[in-house]
Amino acid sequence: MTERVSPVCYCPPPSAGERRELIHVDCASHIYPDGSIGIHQMCFRVLEGEIVALCGPNGSGKSTLIEHINGLLRPSEGKIVVNGCSVGSSQAADLWKEVGIVFQRSDDQLFAPTVLDDVMFGPLNLGMEEGQARTEALAALETVGAEGLDTRLPNYLSGGEKRLVAIAGILAMHPKIIAFDEPTSDLDPVHSAKIEEIVRKLRDVYGISIVLATHDLDLAARLADRVCLVRKGSICAEGSPADIFYNETLISNTGLLPPAVVRIYRSYCKSKGLTADKRPLDAAGLIEAISNS
Ligand SMILES: Nc1ncnc2c1ncn2[C@@H]1O[C@H](COP(=O)(O)OP(=O)(O)OP(=O)(O)O)[C@@H](O)[C@H]1O
Ligand SMILES: [Mg+2]
Repeated sequence: MTERVSPVCYCPPPSAGERRELIHVDCASHIYPDGSIGIHQMCFRVLEGEIVALCGPNGSGKSTLIEHINGLLRPSEGKIVVNGCSVGSSQAADLWKEVGIVFQRSDDQLFAPTVLDDVMFGPLNLGMEEGQARTEALAALETVGAEGLDTRLPNYLSGGEKRLVAIAGILAMHPKIIAFDEPTSDLDPVHSAKIEEIVRKLRDVYGISIVLATHDLDLAARLADRVCLVRKGSICAEGSPADIFYNETLISNTGLLPPAVVRIYRSYCKSKGLTADKRPLDAAGLIEAISNS
């Protein structure tokens, strides 16, 4: 685990044998027109095929960071390189093809008259002919389990259905990276589990790198290869989910509560007078840790 001491920038060069770096945010800051600081000396990277979780309290800069990595926002200072192209350079004009964002509010993303039109929009914009775009769109809807929704009107879908269609719309463009902004907010536990399964499948089957901004620390604990804690516009620590979520001081200094699984395990050990020396991150791990203690 690496803890960073503000305001020192921390952008290590890729180490030997490490997977390829797809996103490199080098000490980037963003000040909004009204003077609010969105991110401040933010250093962040995403490697090929990994799931990185961004966890931090409200207003810490997670969404602002995500909007920088597909060029929706430009840094006021610092540099962002995506798949070898510097954001802002002419080569990076097509960044939206490489990095898709699934926004927190699906209504911000869906606009076409039917679901199929909506999901076909990206492939058509990539220059595919209509038949191919249709095939890609139907395949993407099937991948997310929304194959029956193609003729529906996006406006009349439930929140969970809209989220699936929004993911299909991004997936149909075959991006290298997908950033999810609070993908499970407003969803019931069944739909949240579905999204979790989809995220895993996108990485494991399609090799897509995932950035996950979330307040759901249990989700991050189960899914992420690496967790970055975001505080006041910068990343204050990063490491494996177990290293981060079992560091009580760090989590509380960031203004967060540990995942429920961590709290339950600690309470159980405390009530039984046991040392909490295991680090379960999901229900199965928790049961195993408790039964073996
Ligand atoms: N369009 C904007 N104009 C001005 N300030 C903004 C704008 N968008 C965000 N901010 C400010 O930038 C900071 C970071 O906001 P951001 O939305 O990135 O945080 P976040 O971590 O995504 O929060 P949340 O968990 O609530 O979604 C906040 O102080 C916020 O008020
Ligand atoms: Mg946000």
